[in-house]
Amino acid sequence: MKDQAHNLRELIDSFKQSNNKIISMNKKTDDSTRVLAITSGKGGVGKTNFTINLGIALTNANKRVTIIDADLGLSNVDVVLGLISKFTLANVIRKEISILDVILKGPNNINIISGGSGILDLINLELSEIENLISNFYLLNQCSDYILIDTGAGINNSVMSFIEAANEVILIVTPEPTSITDAYALIKNIKRDKKSIKLVLNRIETSKEGHEVFNKINSATKRFLNFEVEKLGFIYEDPAVRKSVKEQKPFLLKFPNSVASKGIDSIAYNLLNNRNELKNFSNFKRFVNNLFNRV
Ligand SMILES: Nc1ncnc2c1ncn2[C@@H]1O[C@H](COP(=O)(O)OP(=O)(O)OP(=O)(O)O)[C@@H](O)[C@H]1O
Ligand SMILES: [Mg+2]
Repeated sequence: MKDQAHNLRELIDSFKQSNNKIISMNKKTDDSTRVLAITSGKGGVGKTNFTINLGIALTNANKRVTIIDADLGLSNVDVVLGLISKFTLANVIRKEISILDVILKGPNNINIISGGSGILDLINLELSEIENLISNFYLLNQCSDYILIDTGAGINNSVMSFIEAANEVILIVTPEPTSITDAYALIKNIKRDKKSIKLVLNRIETSKEGHEVFNKINSATKRFLNFEVEKLGFIYEDPAVRKSVKEQKPFLLKFPNSVASKGIDSIAYNLLNNRNELKNFSNFKRFVNNLFNRV
């Protein structure tokens, strides 16, 4: 009996703590958080660097940003930023802690959530675990204007579940032929109803090259899938990216005037000014329902 009362008290305490944390994060109550999945067909094309630097650019516009690192690969968000994550989504799934306790604070106050092995677990959850995770995800909604999900590359179940759930997908492509064919293969596999797929052409040498890569993919999707992708923007090949990775600092902060930073800034501008779309696509509830197949 004593044990139970003690446990209950602990539970209430941790709930209060979570609530206080959100209040201190400027809690909001609607479900207007914009959820974007950042993905690619081929690995190593720049997803993680793009996600972090886009996040920084959005904070520069006074948006609250949360990055979910759903990549099981090695070049994770926390590594790129030189942070050490103690907890992951797996701890939340096991009901050990609240999702707010997983948050690491990155530069410009960005929230970073490490998925860890929890990403694989997402596919086979029991009902009570799903309910627990849904209420935890709603805590995120309250303290974020933008949630950016850095997915792994390629077509596997956990990557696809995030892509299917997100209202908007950003697909990173480089001019390499394998990156282009893998991007097309991924688009073919995405259920495209009520979803916007936006292309970012990364590591291009000239804008002509960027347009060519975009047109290759868009003409194939138009012709064979009866569907058009959007051009979100270009990022040039820039030594500033590698330098900033070495120093574990986002290039947008380390080299704000570099061509790569200019590319990110204009992409952030395009996203922020995409207001018509915002009406159609931003709905946190829909994201959570889709993620857990409960529509
Ligand atoms: N615009 C760019 N200019 C120069 N180098 C770049 C650019 N974008 C990415 N790179 C290089 O590519 C490397 C890989 O980038 P990143 O880790 O972001 O890719 P990723 O898609 O997340 O990889 P993974 O699929 O392994 O998770 C970077 O460390 C950097 O050296
Ligand atoms: Mg990565």
